[in-house]
Amino acid sequence: MTPVPEGVPESAVLALRDVRIRDEVNDREIVHGVSFELTPGRVVGIVGESGSGKTLTCRAALGILPEHFVVSGGSIEITGHDIAGLTPARWVDLRGGTISAVFQDPASYLNPSIPVGRQIAEVSRVKKGLNRRAARHRALELLAAVRLRDPELVYGQFTFELSGGMLQRVLIAAAIAAGPKVLIADEATTALDVTVQAEILDLLADLRERTGLALVVVSHDLAVVAQVCDEVLVMRSGEVVEQGPTAQVLYQPRHEYTRLLIDEHEQYGLDRFLDAPAADAPEVDGSGDHLGAGEKELDRVR
Ligand SMILES: Nc1ncnc2c1ncn2[C@@H]1O[C@H](COP(=O)(O)OP(=O)(O)OP(=O)(O)O)[C@@H](O)[C@H]1O
Ligand SMILES: [Mg+2]
Repeated sequence: MTPVPEGVPESAVLALRDVRIRDEVNDREIVHGVSFELTPGRVVGIVGESGSGKTLTCRAALGILPEHFVVSGGSIEITGHDIAGLTPARWVDLRGGTISAVFQDPASYLNPSIPVGRQIAEVSRVKKGLNRRAARHRALELLAAVRLRDPELVYGQFTFELSGGMLQRVLIAAAIAAGPKVLIADEATTALDVTVQAEILDLLADLRERTGLALVVVSHDLAVVAQVCDEVLVMRSGEVVEQGPTAQVLYQPRHEYTRLLIDEHEQYGLDRFLDAPAADAPEVDGSGDHLGAGEKELDRVR
């Protein structure tokens, strides 16, 4: 194998360059320039107050901006390809297969009248072309991969039978079913209690290490970001007010607003996470495609 020469950066799986998002109905710019690059196995966090544009930024990268919202400036590249002007068919390929997402309130992305395991199997069947038997087997593997203790049992259960933490694991399993390179977790742990939240974050960190999955983690909670992110963007009113390596932003905040956020979070035990050593870039096994993503879930948020 030819070694990668030192100093040559690994190519980005997701790159945003000065992305601007406009509300065409009200004729105003909502997001005023967001830039970051995500290479395999890396984690970028986006924090900031409610309404600062975190979700819109993610939705732009997933090609699911709400109606009347457009990317009005800058560029977004997924695995080196500019997404401007992608056809709907190409988006169907990309979503789930290359870039995927989990949001808050997992129950609303799952069908209450179909066993959850079958919904995950369906993703593998449609996206990866597996037959029914192979798709079932794959769904059981995925349920185990997201650390559900009894995959066989959970496979046949319905959403009302599962806790919030279990549902979020099921949704993550569906989101990675087609082997995406990027997973966006937008407030994915917000509704969960602190212990379960920590378990889900640990699971995401584990997936990134084992598969080279790159993550965008959106949270209003700095402690979450401190725990898993390599780099952080702090947003306020559609602007990135501060951006840099997590330890730098959280230990030596330069912007007044970041300091304010940190002060607010001290009562929630941010220190506990700041004491943890920063994670190094994980080994990437290169294949990534034994894991995989939920087109259905994404369709429902459109
Ligand atoms: N579907 C929508 N229709 C109309 N306006 C919207 C819509 N989604 C977002 N906006 C506008 O865009 C702004 C940014 O919204 P966004 O959802 O990106 O914020 P956020 O940072 O994710 O907030 P939160 O922390 O509450 O999730 C909002 O303040 C709102 O004005
Ligand atoms: Mg949001």
